[in-house]
Amino acid sequence: MSDGKPYKRVLLKLSGEALGDGNYAINNDILSEIGSDVAEAHATGVEMGIVIGGGNIFRGVAASAKGMDRASSDYMGMLATCINALALQDALEKKGLQTRVQSAIDMAEIAEPYIRRKAIRHLEKGRIVIFAAGSGNPYFTTDTAAALRAMEINADVILKATKVDGIYDKDPAKHDDAVKFETLDYIEVLNKGLQVMDSTAISLCMDNKLPIVTFNLKTNGNIKKVIQGEKIGTTVS
Ligand code: GTP
Repeated sequence: MSDGKPYKRVLLKLSGEALGDGNYAINNDILSEIGSDVAEAHATGVEMGIVIGGGNIFRGVAASAKGMDRASSDYMGMLATCINALALQDALEKKGLQTRVQSAIDMAEIAEPYIRRKAIRHLEKGRIVIFAAGSGNPYFTTDTAAALRAMEINADVILKATKVDGIYDKDPAKHDDAVKFETLDYIEVLNKGLQVMDSTAISLCMDNKLPIVTFNLKTNGNIKKVIQGEKIGTTVS
């Protein structure tokens, strides 16, 4: 936990769905708002890496459930994250931020390859590094990629931006009496089957003592608040 102190280096996990509006996979106004929030947070001096999902464009797991080969559908999902990464890069640069996109799948004409030491150097220089193509492996989610990259860049925390303001004992959209947890430990999340991140991602964080803070992205200013150590959302540690 930050113990109320600001974090120095964070890994922000954004879902692909956060960029869309139901009609369009990428809504420029929403993208611009996310850009403003990230810029405001970055201005505090934090070093930030971002892993973005691809579910607004293509969901590997959903496609494989309908009969598509799982590895092929996961690769399609990884390509979707690359589209989102370029969109996010554009939005962040419009807010005056310096960014680099690094892809786990080689596409040198479009993005730098993922090179851990180079990513860290970019962060030290104040650039936001957007990690595209997940971990580059099928059967792993972008949440797991976020946990992996967070550890590789020695981030203090994973900031998991979602549509709700923390983790509840049941779906707060469907149950009025849903109760929000302020803190949880990893094993509780796994045992209770709470939908924070998939179990591979949670296990990886647990084994490496990497805290996760989940919070609502839709509330403007939340990224900055979390980075400054304000207690919002739910902390898993
Ligand atoms: P420093 O040398 O630390 O200042 O980093 P830098 O990223 O500014 O230098 P570099 O010369 O590596 O990159 C200059 C620009 O080219 C940046 O916008 C990079 O994102 C981009 N770039 C670097 N390598 C690649 C690559 O393999 N593919 C693509 N598409 N762009 C690259």
